[in-house]
Amino acid sequence: MSLSDDLETVLLDEEGIRAEVERLGREISKDYSDRAPHLISVLKGSVVFLADLIRALAVPVTVDFISISPYGTPTPSGVVRIRKDLDEPIERRDVIVVEGIIDTGLTLSYLLRNFRTRNPASLKVCAFVNKRAQRIIDLSVDYVGREIPDKFVVGYGLDYRQRYRNLPVLGVLKPSALE
Ligand code: IMP
Ligand code: MG
Repeated sequence: MSLSDDLETVLLDEEGIRAEVERLGREISKDYSDRAPHLISVLKGSVVFLADLIRALAVPVTVDFISISPYGTPTPSGVVRIRKDLDEPIERRDVIVVEGIIDTGLTLSYLLRNFRTRNPASLKVCAFVNKRAQRIIDLSVDYVGREIPDKFVVGYGLDYRQRYRNLPVLGVLKPSALE
């Protein structure tokens, strides 16, 4: 029994993922040709993507990590709490927030509001997966790997109850795996 046996469909295989990451790497390298962007990875869903993305970039980068946890069920006010803050200040830095997936947008909108108060030189967002159907808060995502339909997806860093992050593809779980 392998992990991928739990998948109903594969939305993006390893080849497809590589192509999207390389495209994003080219876009970001072009836009930041005269700057060294500071990438902030939102734990934990973005770490697999981050590891590939930074190696697809032709410009110097620095990285930092933040971990946030919702207060129970996220509310429309976007009440979340920082579990592990950034190690470094971001004042005057060219920040790119790296997310694995954006769903309602609550997590990201909270983060962006928080980061803006720290006076970065610029603030952009790069998400591997964008699920617009569930969006509660309107936000602009500057770099997107894939737009996907309103399905719960796992793999390539994304989890279901902390599992499946190590699946090398992005897929939808079988109902039997969602106990
Ligand atoms: P948002 O605040 O609703 O945008 O959701 C952000 C977080 O919800 C992501 O960082 C994921 O941890 C989780 N999430 C939302 N949709 C999915 C999914 O389809 N698969 C795995 N995690 C998801
Ligand atoms: Mg999760």
